[in-house]
Amino acid sequence: MTDTQHTKKVYNKHAKSYHKKIKSKDNIWHKYIEKPAMVSLIKKDIKLKKVLDLGCGSGPFVKKLYCLGAKKVKGIDLSEGLIEIAKKENPKADFVVGDAKKTRYKNKEFDLIVSSLMVHYFKDLRPLFKETSRILNKKGLFVFSMHHPVMEVSSKLGIKKIKGSLLKPYFHNKKYNWTLNEKMKMIAYHHTFEMIINTLNDSGFVIERILEPVAPKIVKKLKKSTYDRTQKRPSFLVIKARKIK
Ligand SMILES: C[S@@+](CC[C@H](N)C(=O)[O-])C[C@H]1O[C@@H](n2cnc3c(N)ncnc32)[C@H](O)[C@@H]1O
Repeated sequence: MTDTQHTKKVYNKHAKSYHKKIKSKDNIWHKYIEKPAMVSLIKKDIKLKKVLDLGCGSGPFVKKLYCLGAKKVKGIDLSEGLIEIAKKENPKADFVVGDAKKTRYKNKEFDLIVSSLMVHYFKDLRPLFKETSRILNKKGLFVFSMHHPVMEVSSKLGIKKIKGSLLKPYFHNKKYNWTLNEKMKMIAYHHTFEMIINTLNDSGFVIERILEPVAPKIVKKLKKSTYDRTQKRPSFLVIKARKIK
């Protein structure tokens, strides 16, 4: 089984519980940290735009995209289970099941492509960024979030006793295993900043802004351990890139 087939299988198996968790009040990572960072990077550029949510999952971001002023929103995801939920929850938007690195969208179909927490599932970023560039309009924006490159290599996972440096090896493109919502066994890939930035550049993009969001004060009351962790170590990398070629 390929890693993509594995990802699809796990999201399909847990589609309902994953969706429930994403929508729940205690989803601190999305609600207070990652999504606000995404919104801050798109809010000035979304009005009346044709938007694609790449790796949209069950579509929790789609209503927000419309609220921010998008003219039309489409979504694509690997998981049939999540797309089924997305269709029910967002009748105004168009959803399809498919792989983000090889879509059936037309050249230059979108003005803005957003992608929340999907990019780290790709070992090779080139086909994904090339496809994004193909379907994006001239001077269009690609705004995405992913696991921060330092998150995985600074985590204590897999290290029994930490002596000296907290960092695990950084210069590689290897897979790592992690558990989502306590039961979903996921495979993701580590990327260095050099890989991310240069691959974007080779695919015709320049970076306009990056964010490394931390939890706001309210999270201290809701879950102090998450608040403390995000003040010390980065969790997400959020990038706003513009197509220039
Ligand atoms: C962490 S979830 C995020 C879902 C949604 N963007 C959100 O913010 O709730 C990652 C999503 O990426 C999707 N995904 C992973 N690899 C993909 C691929 N190659 N093509 C399309 N979707 C993919 C998964 O099926 C999953 O729904």
